Amino acid sequence: MKVNITETVLRDANQSLIATRMPFSDFESILEILDQAGYYSLECWGGATFDSCLRYLNEDPWERLRKIKSKVKNTKLQMLLRGQNLLGYKHYPDDVVRKFVEHAALNGIDIFRIFDALNDFRNIQVALDEVLKQGKHAQGCICYTISPIHSIEKYTEMGKQLESMGVHSICIKDMAGIMSPKEAYELIKALKENVNVPVVLHTHSTTGLGPITYAKAIEAGCDGIDTAISSFSNGTSQPPTETLNYVIKQMGFETGLNESILKKINDYFKTIRTSYISSGLMDPYVMGTETDALIYQIPGGMLSNLISQLKSQNAIDKLEEVLTETPRVREDLGFPPLVTPMSQMVGVQAAVNVLSGERYKTISKEVKAYIKGEYGKTPGEINPELIKKVLGDTKPMTIRFADTLEPIFEKTKNDLKGLARNDEDVLSYIAFPQIAEEFFRQREERESKTVYYTITKK
Ligand code: CO
Repeated sequence: MKVNITETVLRDANQSLIATRMPFSDFESILEILDQAGYYSLECWGGATFDSCLRYLNEDPWERLRKIKSKVKNTKLQMLLRGQNLLGYKHYPDDVVRKFVEHAALNGIDIFRIFDALNDFRNIQVALDEVLKQGKHAQGCICYTISPIHSIEKYTEMGKQLESMGVHSICIKDMAGIMSPKEAYELIKALKENVNVPVVLHTHSTTGLGPITYAKAIEAGCDGIDTAISSFSNGTSQPPTETLNYVIKQMGFETGLNESILKKINDYFKTIRTSYISSGLMDPYVMGTETDALIYQIPGGMLSNLISQLKSQNAIDKLEEVLTETPRVREDLGFPPLVTPMSQMVGVQAAVNVLSGERYKTISKEVKAYIKGEYGKTPGEINPELIKKVLGDTKPMTIRFADTLEPIFEKTKNDLKGLARNDEDVLSYIAFPQIAEEFFRQREERESKTVYYTITKK
């Protein structure tokens, strides 16, 4: 039997350890070697990579994908898609979701891992349907969280629901790295007994549980795991590829990985890591083990965001209070899993509640929209007092929010004549209007300079 290994160094490890600041030029020369390692897939796009390319790296995310595809010819390319939110923080109309998936497929994505922060699968339905139409692999996600209303039975139901929607595989997404080995064993076992499609586990090393959790998951029949090459592993990233490969083989399973190629890959990224540490891009904090996350049950990334947010407001002495407030806010909001965008929304609201000295004195625009039902069906009940405060006597919406949105792709394309060069540009603009516009202008400027330079050189 084989356990599939997905390498995350280009996406999740990059995002978790260095806030997705790895430019294409830093990994271009290792792509062909990565392609020879025998990975099941290479996670390389989506999540924050799209935003980061445009915002910080002055790179066209679509071009990055095409360039990766041109070098990685055998291994499947995988992306993380936030369902109806695509790669942003709000819901987009269906026409945009379909166009986005179509172009991601055209530009090289083979496996689409799709999640909704609330596990409201109405919000992944359209993206999933389009992936199937494009003939690509659709992986449906269950976001894992621990709360009084989440249980193995509930997760198993979700798994069955995903299977009936036509997914090719199911991923349990433990973004916070809080799933224990025992929980993994029981959950994977239950899912494997109830669904026929492969079940994959995604976790992080944040709390130190990761590698043990993976081992128990595999014992229970897990079909695949996500790991990061060791020099970009652990801490808030994934458990190390080489270590898990060693363990899995000893357990009697195949991985298909080639150890001497893994060594080459690791030697390469070791050098890159050293340069990131000396430039300060890689903060030693994210490389440690954060057992506080087991107490607060919040993702490591959320913890570091809270810390920097409080530091910038000279209120780091309030950290303990904010961390106590966070689970209370989460409970008030019906126990949403703390994944993008919920982790940000809950964290900010908890900080505001503490710093303003009065709970919900100010409620963020996003939390208001959430209470109105714009993000989807909440896992549990929202605190009725909070609903009253935000909505008065009106009721939260029960329909899918995207059903209230008009198509915008064609209109935006028209508006962007002269600025956008293709449909991909239009999609970048819809996702991040100001940033994309700035990127287009700089691109224009850069290219006119290049032309001038080549002419004068002659
Ligand atoms: Co992750």
